Amino acid sequence: MGAPLSARAGAVLVVARAMIGATIIVGVSLPVGFAQVRDRDPSWAAPPEARAKVNPLLDRPEAVAGGGKLFQQRCATCHGDEGRGTLKAPDLTGREVQAQTDGELYWKISTGQTHAGMPAFSFLPEQQRWQLVLHLRGAPSNQH
Ligand code: HEC
Repeated sequence: MGAPLSARAGAVLVVARAMIGATIIVGVSLPVGFAQVRDRDPSWAAPPEARAKVNPLLDRPEAVAGGGKLFQQRCATCHGDEGRGTLKAPDLTGREVQAQTDGELYWKISTGQTHAGMPAFSFLPEQQRWQLVLHLRGAPSNQH
């Protein structure tokens, strides 16, 4: 009496194991297959006083050209030529980034998040960092 029951229980267990295994394989391979661009970290935020800073180059839109050059030299290897992100670094053209203030972007560029792979660019002159912010705003690919 006991034998057929435990045999059935064994079969159920085998099926259950196979299903769990399949779920794990699908769950692991799907995100890998679609992850063309690294996710941003939504918890990384600038302090309020940094956020409130205004870009001193707002009345000098021509400074954006230099920002574009700097971006190609310093940022494109990770963020992509158009800032749309790569496996190494997140998209900078999307809503979540563009919704941040100039001051916050300036602070992030200056401070970096080195443990996550974003270098600190505080060694660049302030003017160049603000030019980079102008570029992040003004690149044609950023127009939504
Ligand atoms: C070595 C690779 C690398 C380089 C070079 C690099 N970044 Fe990044 N950047 C990252 C990574 C990785 C993150 C995400 C950090 C995190 O997850 O906390 C990031 C995040 C950012 C963010 C924050 C985006 C957000 O979601 O709020 C900005 C802004 C940014 N980078 C701008 C720049 C600029 C401008 C340059 C060039 C001066 C640059 N980065 C160069 C790797 C890089």
